[in-house]
Amino acid sequence: MGEGRRHHRVPRCKRCGQPAVIFMRQHRLALCETHYQEWFVNYTQRTIEKYHMFRPEHRILVAVSGGKDSLALWDVLTQLGYKADGLYIGLGIDEGTRYSELSLEAIRGFMAERPGLRLNIVDMKESYGETIPELARRTRRGRGKPCSVCGLSKRHIMNEVALREGYDVLATGHNLDDEAAVLFQNTLHWQTGYLARQSPVLEATHPGLVRKVKPFCRFYEREVAAYAIVRGIEYQYDECPFSVGATTIYYKELLNRLERQSPGSKFQFYTQFLNAKKKGLITFHEPEGEVVLRPCRICGQPTTAGEICAFCRMWVRPDMDPEEAKKVVPTLKLRVETS
Ligand code: AMP
Ligand code: FES
Ligand code: ZN
Ligand code: ZN
Repeated sequence: MGEGRRHHRVPRCKRCGQPAVIFMRQHRLALCETHYQEWFVNYTQRTIEKYHMFRPEHRILVAVSGGKDSLALWDVLTQLGYKADGLYIGLGIDEGTRYSELSLEAIRGFMAERPGLRLNIVDMKESYGETIPELARRTRRGRGKPCSVCGLSKRHIMNEVALREGYDVLATGHNLDDEAAVLFQNTLHWQTGYLARQSPVLEATHPGLVRKVKPFCRFYEREVAAYAIVRGIEYQYDECPFSVGATTIYYKELLNRLERQSPGSKFQFYTQFLNAKKKGLITFHEPEGEVVLRPCRICGQPTTAGEICAFCRMWVRPDMDPEEAKKVVPTLKLRVETS
């Protein structure tokens, strides 16, 4: 350690003066372990209120992957007294790794320490006869990487479970690093349609769509990780093996470099975008005529893709007659585990 560092004062908790475990530059705030937990939970509540995400009477479905973000989110929502059930989608990404297996193990471990939780489980293989890597290999969409098939399937299943089981809102664990990377990507390409829609709350613009919210959108990834650690949450540390080299990871690295040079810039970039949009200082529009939502002829979920949605098209071939097409798409099977 250099000479200068030795005289550096240990940051102290702003509330109690004990040594701090975290310093958040964008809030000019250092906190100890106890006060960090308290602050993190309260700040989530402030985000929920600021963006009118949901109220105590609503039933929330939390999409839990077993990673730190979604488990921390489930933990916080439960502490705040919300009625929040989990949804885990078993993707079957276990070839050469035990990624999905370990994800479910992490969720079960989390639940075992918290009696009274309810988890909905949809297993790809059980419901659809194929895991994500298998589906990806069989379909055109999956050529190269399974991520596109995976994203599409997760969105479809989350929406179906939320509507079928009568949840008011679907909550995901997306954090500031995720949102800023998407915003950066969409801005670089001036994806005006995506920019119009990028928001902590996605309203249900159609009766077949569930409302979606991201209560952690104002937390840096490192803040969520710090919270998970101080709460003793044993989450799945590994990233999905297919995420290596994903474009969002590249944008995240770029933003991390920017953040090192100019701390707080990620937070500013994202929150000022939301503020400017809210005040009407910047407006984006969907390209004309491209967002007509019609219910899919097979599953009924709204789609912009024509008669049959992209999910059902993984089974339906263009030459099939309507009766046959209805039969080839497998139906979702839901299991429930409680603690
Ligand atoms: P990701 O796209 O992997 O960064 O995940 C973003 C969010 O989607 C997570 O925070 C979870 O809320 C949700 N999610 C991802 N994978 C799953 C899964 N297998 N089952 C349920 N929810 C998931
Ligand atoms: Fe879906 Fe990696 S391909 S999580
Ligand atoms: Zn303190
Ligand atoms: Zn469909």
